[in-house]
Amino acid sequence: MNFKGGSGKTTTTAHLAQHLALHGYRTLAIDLDPQASLSALHGYQPEFDVGENQTLYGAIRYDDQKRPISEIIQQTYFPNLDLIPGNIELMEYEHDTPKALADNPGQGLFFTRLDSALSEVQDRYDVIVVDCPPQLGFLTMTAMCAATAVLVTVHPQMLDVMSMCQFLIMTSELLEVVANAGGNTGYDWMRYLVTRYEPGDGPQNQMVSFMRSMFEEHVLNYPMLKSTAISDAGLTKQTLYEVGRENFSRSTYDRAMEALNNVNGEIESLIKQAWGRA
Ligand SMILES: Nc1ncnc2c1ncn2[C@@H]1O[C@H](COP(=O)(O)OP(=O)(O)O)[C@@H](O)[C@H]1O
Ligand SMILES: [Mg+2]
Repeated sequence: MNFKGGSGKTTTTAHLAQHLALHGYRTLAIDLDPQASLSALHGYQPEFDVGENQTLYGAIRYDDQKRPISEIIQQTYFPNLDLIPGNIELMEYEHDTPKALADNPGQGLFFTRLDSALSEVQDRYDVIVVDCPPQLGFLTMTAMCAATAVLVTVHPQMLDVMSMCQFLIMTSELLEVVANAGGNTGYDWMRYLVTRYEPGDGPQNQMVSFMRSMFEEHVLNYPMLKSTAISDAGLTKQTLYEVGRENFSRSTYDRAMEALNNVNGEIESLIKQAWGRA
């Protein structure tokens, strides 16, 4: 999550979910962004392939059209990886929630909705990865309340880091309200991932040093490097795991893959630590 668009949320989610699936974890990826880039990366065109009540909205809506999450989950062409696609329908939840809160104060609280939907299928998965929309609305808050860990993607530039700080302040204020109402706001871990990093760029290095001194061990050791292999793969709605090495100069592909494996390996070990399996 992060409310800055272009901070690498979707790219990170897609590559993490696919990494976990390729390593044998039964993985569910949830697209919570109405723009649905994560769905597009997995072959679901949000306008054409995703119909009414076929996004997560169907499982967390407040009216009697709500249906079991198991009916919404789709398979992907990756073994071990399932997907709940998104599209513009998810926006309904942002509009419905204030109304539901006003109509039933105390009842059907928004922050338990994803949690209880997921409890129906939690035996089927080892890890569930959620790609959040670029704003701090009810969808993001709902995801934060269901989450056991949080990853904030940050592109190390002055304006991005400033906007992230604003995001953190707003998030902590909102989470306090949720915690006071009895919602879950405890996490096994919370980390910042530096994205689209260019090691040769002086100002970026200054921002990374600044973040490390501010957030210390909460910044992942490995950054995700900026690479044309990642952005070119994205143009054809693919991840680095899907494109062939022959499409790039070897060093370009290998450097991107090494950075990706380091980042995903570090996240995987945080997950294992939380399970007591480190
Ligand atoms: N490591 C990277 N190297 C090069 N381009 C990247 C990298 N990560 C993301 N991008 C590109 O940056 C753009 C924004 O990334 P995206 O993951 O969609 O961000 P968000 O989901 O936060 O809006 C996309 O075009 C994506 O291909
Ligand atoms: Mg995105």
